[in-house]
Order: sequence, then C-alpha cells, then structure tokens
Amino acid sequence: MTSSTLTAALRALPKAELHLHIEGTLEPELIFALAQRNQQTLPYPDIASLRAAYSFTNLQSFLDLYYAGAQVLQTEQDFYDMSMAYLQRVHQDGAVHVEIMFDPQTHTSRGIDIEVVFAGLARALRQARTELGLSSYLIMSFLRHLSEADAFACLESALPLREQYADLWIAIGLDSAELGNPPEKFQRVFERCKELGFRLVAHAGEEGPADYVRDALDLLQVERIDHGIRSEEDPALMMRLRSQATPLTVCPLSNLRLKVVNDLTQHNLKRLLDQGLCVTINSDDPAYFGGYLLDNYTQTIDALDLTDVEIRQLAANSINASFLPPEQKQHWLSKISQSPLPA
Ligand code: ADE
Ligand code: ZN
Repeated sequence: MTSSTLTAALRALPKAELHLHIEGTLEPELIFALAQRNQQTLPYPDIASLRAAYSFTNLQSFLDLYYAGAQVLQTEQDFYDMSMAYLQRVHQDGAVHVEIMFDPQTHTSRGIDIEVVFAGLARALRQARTELGLSSYLIMSFLRHLSEADAFACLESALPLREQYADLWIAIGLDSAELGNPPEKFQRVFERCKELGFRLVAHAGEEGPADYVRDALDLLQVERIDHGIRSEEDPALMMRLRSQATPLTVCPLSNLRLKVVNDLTQHNLKRLLDQGLCVTINSDDPAYFGGYLLDNYTQTIDALDLTDVEIRQLAANSINASFLPPEQKQHWLSKISQSPLPA
C-alpha cells in the first residue's frame, strides 16, 4: 500500500489529466439528484443498486450504462454541476491542468441544444480557472459508433460557437465503441478539423488492435493517442511512438474495470515507460471505474512498484503531452523537478 506520506507527495506533485470524459464523472448520487430535479424516473430503485450495476465485461457493457446515465443531463445548470464536481475533485488530487472530452452527440440526439452543453461546461471551467487556478481545455469528441455524416453534422453545429469558446475548445477527439469502427471511417472529418486548426486526438488500441493506433496516426493525423496500450503488439509501431514522442494517455483503472487487463500487476504501463514512450496516467471515466486521478497514480505505483524517477517522469509527461503553451509547460516542469518525493 502506498504510504500516506507518498500519497501526500503525489497530491502535491503538479500533474495534468488529459484523458477524461466529463460524462464519465457523473456519480450515482448526482445521477439521482439530477433525475429528481428533471422529473425523470431511473430504472434503479436507489443509488446503491445503480452503483452495483457497475460491473463490466468489456467496453460496450460500460458504454451502455454510460450513455443511459448521461440522459439525466438536461439543462445548462446540469452540465455546470457535473463539471464543477469533477473540477473540485481533481483539484484536490493536485491536478493543475485538465483537458476534458465531451460528447455532444450523446446530448443533441436527445434534443438538447449544443449551446446548452457548451455553456454549462464553459461556465464551470472558467470559474475553476479563476477560483481554483486550474487551467483547462475542451476536446469535442465524435462518437465512432455513429456515421461520418453525423460527425460532420456535429462539427457544423458547433462551429458557430467556436469564437465564443475559443479560450477552451481547442481540440477534437474520437471515442465510443472501437472495434468495427476503425479510424478510416473518420478520415475526412478529421482532415477538415485539421484544416480548421484544431488539435487532434483519438482513442485507439484500447480494445482495438495496434493497426488502429497506426491508422489514427497516419489517417487521422492525431498528435496524441488515448489508451494505445495494444501498441506493444507491433514493434515497428513502438519504435515510431518512441521516436516521434507520441503521448499515450493511459487509464489503468479503466483498463482493469473493462477487462482489458486482468490485474493491475499485469498492466504494461511500466514496460511502455521503460521503452521510452511518453506515457501518462489518467482516469477516463472515474465515476464508473472506481478512482479519480490520484487513485490511478497510487494504485498503479503500488501494483507496478514504480520508482520515484518513474513517478516524476509520468507527471512531467502529462505536462509535456498537454496542449499548454511552452512557457506554462516550463513553469510546471520546473515545479515537478523541485517537488519532493519520499525515498
Ligand atoms: N467513452 C467514454 N469512455 C470511453 C472509453 N474508455 N473508450 C471509448 N469511449 C469512451
Ligand atoms: Zn476514454
């Protein structure tokens, strides 16, 4: 077990969270509170029985519950409340910067205006900047189980809001069911997003094969891979990730809960790190996977017996892999190098 001294030092270590789905931060308590506020009936009698349903066999079994849970989000205040709860929580974990994915299609398909989604998220993010000193960006993500035409429609509906949210919305992502929805399906829409000047990321190599990671780099031209742990199956790809310093936003507790790995001690994070890849630690959908950012650090450090050098490297990677401007990266990197870790 991580000692309380180490946990305190990890909390004080500046770090960024780069792989976080805001809809995945809806705790059962908040799902019930929002359902009540919006006069919705949930198919669970109480909070405990909803939490008890969080036992997943694979990515799809989780996504079914995740999309169902998101249906309680109706108003700008709902999106604000959800985001503020997460920001306060991750601030307590010692995050200094977060890059948050959100899935507009999950909401617009239920008749929620995309402006409501942006407005609620942005109000919380801007408040957290001023009140908590926590910086953030938004990554608008396309759902890969939907069509290319749907992704284009999502982009078109969001573009009129770009100027209003230019301080936050700087990137595009790709998430949801990976298998059977390869990167090539979204090549044209990512090309358009690149022309528009967005930073690009995509989920790949979570459940899908190493080929999807390569195609995300070649066809989607992403700068960062979300998950990417199956890259290890392709030595040539590993060499490329290392030489290009392509960041992988790894989510250990997610991988455990979605049965991508059987046990945290079997996780390949340390091997990826040892091979010189820019690995970062993140929580993915913390309300569903039993741990926020700091829990992911402590449990991974315990399971893989990571050294102080490796821990500091993970924190530095999270800053280097972020979309922060160079001077802000430098500021946090020097804080990390001065941050004490118990021997
Ligand atoms: N959406 C939310 N969490 C996800 C994950 N782990 N993989 C793909 N899509 C997601
Ligand atoms: Zn994810």
